[in-house]
Amino acid sequence: MEKIVIRGGHPLSGTVEVSGMKNAAVGVLLSTILIDGITVLENLPVISDVALSLDILRSMGAVVEQLDATTYQIDTRHVQAGSAPPLMVRKMRASYYVIGAELGRFHTSRVGIPGGCDFGVRPIDQHIKCFEALGADVTMTKDFVIADATSGLHGDQIYFDSVSVGATINGMIAATLADGTTVIENAAREPHVVDVANFLNTCGARITGAGTDVVKIKGVKRLHGCTYAIIPDMIEAATYMIAAAATNGTLQITNVIPKHLESVSAKMEEMGVKIEELDDAVIVSPADQLRRVNVKTLPYPGFPTDAHPQMSVLLCLAQGVSHVSEGVWDNRFRYVEELRRMGADITVEGKVATINGGNHFTGAKVRAVDLRAGAAMIIAALAAQGKTEIDDIYHIKRGYDNIVGKLQNAGADIQLVDVPDE
Ligand code: EPU
Repeated sequence: MEKIVIRGGHPLSGTVEVSGMKNAAVGVLLSTILIDGITVLENLPVISDVALSLDILRSMGAVVEQLDATTYQIDTRHVQAGSAPPLMVRKMRASYYVIGAELGRFHTSRVGIPGGCDFGVRPIDQHIKCFEALGADVTMTKDFVIADATSGLHGDQIYFDSVSVGATINGMIAATLADGTTVIENAAREPHVVDVANFLNTCGARITGAGTDVVKIKGVKRLHGCTYAIIPDMIEAATYMIAAAATNGTLQITNVIPKHLESVSAKMEEMGVKIEELDDAVIVSPADQLRRVNVKTLPYPGFPTDAHPQMSVLLCLAQGVSHVSEGVWDNRFRYVEELRRMGADITVEGKVATINGGNHFTGAKVRAVDLRAGAAMIIAALAAQGKTEIDDIYHIKRGYDNIVGKLQNAGADIQLVDVPDE
């Protein structure tokens, strides 16, 4: 086991380079199951969710070869349906893409129930609605999702009842090899939806409209391999932007697509933080005085739920009372109790956190209760007086590539420490 130890109070400075996007990488990796060929994927982040996705592919019969630190060659010609190990699948929410991909290629699928961070109820009813519209019979047992389309998949029109990133991507994956045209309405517009669509199109799919709320998929007979680079991670970038502002630092964050960061940049500027956009970088400089704002998380292009806990940390340091309303997940407030240990004054009612700002953080022993909550703890600790120890950092390793090394390079006093197993 490992923990992260941080001695706060050092403004971040210099440059941090952002890695490939976790949520695009897992979608692209698992959609290779559709491909009767060999794919080379570049700019994969070095995180445990990518390692797990590669392990799932290997267990299914893919031949995976690492070409360099962030590039893998994946031969999925001989993958077998129904062979993803349930124990692996249970570790990651994105495993639901195995269902769409198996159905698409083999017309049959048997996959364990996907796991992931605990944000309250996390249904997959919209994924299932889509598979059924395409002609599959879907059964959910206590442990498995079982889907069969004995006479193949055929295109249809699907209207999602709620905007879902996962259901939109899974719908695209399943429909890519279906007969005829599928139209997904009320689709999610996140950049990772576009990235998975671009990847599949590079392999021969015919998907249009990704990035809008109507996505059209004209079925094709077969996908071939390709070489493809994953887009930069906008949530990782947002995390470093907020960390810079929280420590009154000046930080250049490179390998970003500034357009993807607009909602975060706009809120931070409203708080008084200075942000300069370059072609593929942003420079964050300190506010004269951090001002309170209200934040509501929404599907893209709204403020991302995956930057909610990090933003709450910054609001604790701003003058005045701020409100953060969570508009995507039922319960994304488990970080609050941990932040309180460091001196935060936050109350939660329903899906709204009220943050009494103007506080200082003090170092404490805290836990990373989920991935982005863990990132929030790191930011609070960087801004805190004294020493903070963060446990359960396996959550952080799921989604942040070398966060300790990147922050050390930017001047933080942060260490990864081995903890002997009890
Ligand atoms: N929802 C349903 N039914 C469904 C699917 C979703 O009701 O069938 C609801 C969810 O309960 C939630 C909302 O729709 O209230 C949005 O869920 P969505 O399906 O968009 O989430 P997801 O695809 O499971 C992805 C990211 C999450 C991110 C959300 C929202 C991946 C692997 N995960 O999850 O990322 O919070 O979109 O943007 O892409 C993270 O990276 O820390 C993370 C949790």
